Amino acid sequence: MRVINCCTRLHAPSSIRLSFVRRNHSQTHSYRCVGHGNCSLSTNQMEQRNLSANTVIDHPRALTDKITLIRDAGPSKFQVIADFDATLTRYRVNGLRGQTSHNLLQQGNAEYDAKRQALYDHYHPLEISPVIPIDEKTKLMEEWWSKTHDLLIEGGLTYDAIKKSVENSSIAFREGVVELFEFLEKKEIPVLIFSAGLADVIEEVLRQNLHRTFKNVKIVSNRMVFDDNGRLVSFKGKLIHVLNKNEHALDMAGPLHDQLGVDTGEEDEDEANAYVKQRTNVLLMGDHLGDLRMSDGLSYETRISVGFLNDNIEKSLESYRQAFDLVYLNDAPMWGAVELVSRLFSTEET
Ligand code: C5P
Ligand code: MG
Repeated sequence: MRVINCCTRLHAPSSIRLSFVRRNHSQTHSYRCVGHGNCSLSTNQMEQRNLSANTVIDHPRALTDKITLIRDAGPSKFQVIADFDATLTRYRVNGLRGQTSHNLLQQGNAEYDAKRQALYDHYHPLEISPVIPIDEKTKLMEEWWSKTHDLLIEGGLTYDAIKKSVENSSIAFREGVVELFEFLEKKEIPVLIFSAGLADVIEEVLRQNLHRTFKNVKIVSNRMVFDDNGRLVSFKGKLIHVLNKNEHALDMAGPLHDQLGVDTGEEDEDEANAYVKQRTNVLLMGDHLGDLRMSDGLSYETRISVGFLNDNIEKSLESYRQAFDLVYLNDAPMWGAVELVSRLFSTEET
């Protein structure tokens, strides 16, 4: 039997309820409404309403053990690594697919916008195809990202165009992201936003949407270089696409954490790296199976992985529930993660 909490409400931290959809070992799918014996919802209605708010946990016991280990080690041992697009941001905004840091960009040059859109139309189906072997897909993603970066340079993207694009974009953070960052900031817990998108765009999205900065939040993503006229001339460092986040984890995480507002007391990069490496407990959040590799470079002790499964739930649930400790279905808000970190490091905790 699948167990679904029909009354889960994830609209505010005070009313958080985690509900578990446990692994279904039988072939027959039946549903039980927990907590409301008189619930009048049909199975279909229950499923529709509750998939959007439910949490899927394959191994609740293993998760509880991880929570205990991380809580016992304390906040000084902990860090958060989060993907950006469709993880911190919502997959759908006003009923339509929300924009990513890439596709919100309007270069001020319609020809180049159309060229990038044509690339998206060609490569995005390949990105989400479950049948293309990983090596082949990696090459395709490299191709897509480098062509896109070239078009942004050739098309003369300016920093002003980024600001205007973000102003006009339909990109929105999941409810609870601010509360999550605030909680982590208070506890001096670093947050690394690790994205295959565009760092400069992400920063502008944070600026315009959150209306404040967080000294504990840093971004690892494709970083632009502008000339004196604010025109894009190149990209810094190695290209980060959806399938190579692992290659960059170690070399980029160290220097980045070095710049955190948190005082490490360390002066050189090696010592700063050592500081990051002390934080061997990780909360990793992503919407893509490839996001799981974001912590590859960290040799963590305990990791809780959270997956946002926004679309194609029927097809992807099995692989997500096996890969992530928790799966939030159907573009869920961030309240579950807020509750999780509060549970880990609540000041009221005994
Ligand atoms: O932040 P994250 O790593 O999720 O960003 C990558 C996302 O950006 C991918 O899911 C991809 O679909 C999207 N993308 C895009 N346009 C591009 C390249 C990537 O929308 N040109
Ligand atoms: Mg993503």
